[in-house]
Amino acid sequence: MKPLESIEFQTKKQMYDFMAVRLKAYLDEAPDWCSALGNASALFNALLKNINWAGFYLMKNQELILGPFQGKPACVRIEMGKGVCGTAALQQTTQLVPDVHAFDGHIACDSASNSELVVPIILNSSTVAVIDLDSPLINRFDEEDALGFEKIAKLLSSQLDWQTVLNR
Ligand code: SME
Repeated sequence: MKPLESIEFQTKKQMYDFMAVRLKAYLDEAPDWCSALGNASALFNALLKNINWAGFYLMKNQELILGPFQGKPACVRIEMGKGVCGTAALQQTTQLVPDVHAFDGHIACDSASNSELVVPIILNSSTVAVIDLDSPLINRFDEEDALGFEKIAKLLSSQLDWQTVLNR
C-alpha cells in the first residue's frame, strides 16, 4: 500500500474525503479513545503538507488538557476562553487564524507556528475537545480546510465514546 504521505490528491476535497474514510476505519478498529485519537493525529500529520503540529486538546473539569498529538511537546492545560484553542472551545466556533502573531492571547507552544486552525468537537451542545493544527506558513489554512475539519469533528463527535474520554 502506498505511504499516506505520498498519495497525490487532485483537490483538497478529495484529500478530506479520503481522510474521513480512513478515520472512520481507525475508529471502527480502535478499542479505545487513546488509540483512535493517536491514529487520527498521525493521519492528519501524514496527509497535511506544511504543518508542524496536529492533535487534540480534551475537556476535563472545564479546561482543555493536552491529548494525543504529533509535533513538539506542547502546553498541557489551556483555560476556556484562553488562546486560540480556548476561544474555539468556549465560543464553539472554528478559529481560522492566518497569522497567530495578530491573534490577541495566542499561546505560543512552538515558535515555528505562524498560522493555526482550531475546530471544536461538540457533543449534545457541550465542547468535548478541540482539533488543533499549526503551520510554519502564514495563511496556511483556508475555508476548505475549515470545512474539511468540521466534517472530521462531526465524525469524531458521533463515532467516539466521549463518556470514556470525559471520565479518564
Ligand atoms: N496555539 C494554541 C496553543 C496550543 S499549541 O498551538 C499546540 C492556542 O493559542 O491555544
